[in-house]
Amino acid sequence: MSLDPVKKLVILAKSNIMQSNNMDALEAIRIKFLGKKGYLNQHIKNLNDTSLDIKPKLGAAINQAKEDIYTLLIERKNILQSKNIKNTLITDTLDVTLPGRLSDIGTHHPITSTIKRMKIFFNTLGFSVIHGPEIEDDYFNFDALNISKYHPSRDEHDTFWFDEKRLLRTHTSGVQIRAMINKTPPIRIISFGRVYRKDYDQHHTPMFHQMEGLIVDSNVNFSYLKKILYDFLYNFFETDIILRFRPSYFPFTEPSAEIDVMKKQETGNWLELLGCGMVHPKILHHVDIDTEKFSGFAFGIGIERLTMLQYNIDDIRVFFKNDLQFLDQFK
Ligand code: PHE
Repeated sequence: MSLDPVKKLVILAKSNIMQSNNMDALEAIRIKFLGKKGYLNQHIKNLNDTSLDIKPKLGAAINQAKEDIYTLLIERKNILQSKNIKNTLITDTLDVTLPGRLSDIGTHHPITSTIKRMKIFFNTLGFSVIHGPEIEDDYFNFDALNISKYHPSRDEHDTFWFDEKRLLRTHTSGVQIRAMINKTPPIRIISFGRVYRKDYDQHHTPMFHQMEGLIVDSNVNFSYLKKILYDFLYNFFETDIILRFRPSYFPFTEPSAEIDVMKKQETGNWLELLGCGMVHPKILHHVDIDTEKFSGFAFGIGIERLTMLQYNIDDIRVFFKNDLQFLDQFK
């Protein structure tokens, strides 16, 4: 064996490389010459049979050849790559008339939209928005609202308790008490938020939303309460509805009422929408409001109920499933 074949191999590789005009061909050449079973490794295997005097020289020549071929491959690779880029720049024209890719634009959740509309209506009437905590003290959720420990309506609330005192509020009425403690009349507030009750079926979810409203002033009466709520509902539904104002009972209002609604085209189906009433004098006394000078009324509206009726939704659970097909309808 002599040095010649190694030199010849480099020359052969060089001409192969120069003729190749794509990356795949180049890779095939690399494997043919430098691969595990490539030509150069064949030579290395043959070194064992080589006479001692030329072995070191031959070994060195093979290593040099490997390096040379490797360098040639890299150089060719760079040339081919920049050719590719030039080609795509020439051939890939950009059609600026194509419509762009639109990203999906989201929308407000229907409950959020309802809250926004309610806010606008009541702000116009001079109500300001206040917030109350979702983790409530049993005092604000029950006791201060005239619902004592042994009052049967406490059981009706199906409360999530944290311990003896703290709970997830079962309604937004606690903010009435907080407002009357922190403000002096005239008071005109609304409050939106999540409330929680252990219940789950087509008409109940363990979390839902309420809006609380409260007025305390020197000249409010039951007919004014009815007027505000009727105005709100007729305004909200924008279609033909019939309202029913019927007596009810809440420990914190006296007298108490509930309002039911029916869509004119669906005669026969009354839907309970809200509870309301004149703030119980006991409660006003308790928060040091002079009942000789002031009276108050309060109302609590179920926000899901309102939204379901507006869009003819018959299962409350769809609001909280994050189903895009459902939500997309409100775009
Ligand atoms: N908090 C009552 C409920 O959740 C509704 C209500 C609010 C009733 C204010 C009267 C006055 O059912």
